[in-house]
Amino acid sequence: MSQIGILLELLCRPGLAGGTDLVGRYEQAFARTVLGDASRPCLAFGKGRVALWTVLRALASQSGGEVAVPAFTCEMVPAAVKFAGLRCVYADVAAGGFNAGAAELAGAIGPATQAVVCQHTYGIGPDPAAMRRLSTGGSAVLIEDCCQLADLPAGPDGPTRLGAVAFFSTQWNKPFSTGLGGMAAFNDSSLYSAVGDMRSAFGRAGDRARSRSLAIQALAYELTVRPATQAAVAKMYRFAQRRGWVRGTNTAGDYDQTMPDDYPCGATNLQAILGLRQLRRWDSNVAHRRMLTGFYLQRLAEFGIDTMPLGATCGQALWAVPLLVDNKAELLARAERDALAVATWFDVPPVHLAEATAGRYDYRPGSCPASEWMVPREIHLPTSPAVSLDRAQATWKFLQRHARFTSPR
Ligand SMILES: Cc1ncc(COP(=O)(O)O)c(C=O)c1O
Repeated sequence: MSQIGILLELLCRPGLAGGTDLVGRYEQAFARTVLGDASRPCLAFGKGRVALWTVLRALASQSGGEVAVPAFTCEMVPAAVKFAGLRCVYADVAAGGFNAGAAELAGAIGPATQAVVCQHTYGIGPDPAAMRRLSTGGSAVLIEDCCQLADLPAGPDGPTRLGAVAFFSTQWNKPFSTGLGGMAAFNDSSLYSAVGDMRSAFGRAGDRARSRSLAIQALAYELTVRPATQAAVAKMYRFAQRRGWVRGTNTAGDYDQTMPDDYPCGATNLQAILGLRQLRRWDSNVAHRRMLTGFYLQRLAEFGIDTMPLGATCGQALWAVPLLVDNKAELLARAERDALAVATWFDVPPVHLAEATAGRYDYRPGSCPASEWMVPREIHLPTSPAVSLDRAQATWKFLQRHARFTSPR
């Protein structure tokens, strides 16, 4: 059955969509397909941030501890830390790259640190050996943010194996999507059972309504998003979301100082069904991403742009190829007009870096200058299966003509 047919059926069967009996199957399929290890314990959540929040709550022995987080991150990461009753301490982007490295994260660790979040930004991994030293050198627990990880090379030092737990997002534009959703994969069995117990205690009263709203959004997505309309639809969606017209990825409650009651939520059958369908296409998804990553890296290198900070060599896939430009607003507007595959992570500064709201998220403006410098310059080139090689070629021609490239500092 087509995705539209399935969504219509699930809308007519709210009991099935809002139930949870298929979630275990989805978790196992995720472990087998994405992690390459069917025995790896995984737990699915309503969103990636909820996976992080639940892990932090399970770890926190008392309120008032600290979490080291990258400054160049999704705003929902510091928000989850705050909702868990903890303090954020920020690590800046390492010189010349896109990730907070081990040295920057180590600098954010103190006696009160309970956890350290290391991020695979755009799929570019941090140095595994340095991260491992960081995770074994103290009492803080290492959490890998794999929300942008699109390719998992095997091996004990590979991504998702560096710390006690790794979490993923399956939100709209992520390596594979269930509309909204998250997953945690564990390397520590006691943390797995503590987080599992917490998830079992989440209220389920809102699951039907949440699934209905997600099914409607997924249907709208299926009907409206095409390569040529993607940028415009994303812009309209973000606009409607900010106005509160649609219950989007980030609701007003995500920005509240007090955590909304319905924030802790597990995955439902709707997410499990969408996830299982996506997992069937995982191998071809990754193969496409490898091909486009290779294409862009080659063109960038030929053009004289240093691709070292992009890390992906040996045929590995990035979720998107990041670039820094001095004419971001103009470039995005032109790309949208020409329906080209150019996106940005930050259309406005994230709340923790924004001057007006920084204090609420424990950020001191000016303390992570490299991240602050990058946010208004960041664009990225998605490698998703929705972007054909033809479109990538047209995008690259466009960038050659119009982008004013600059390098990471
Ligand atoms: C690096 C990173 N971490 C965390 C998140 C939060 O994931 P979710 O939106 O599923 O809560 C995202 C999503 O945008 C992300 O890109």
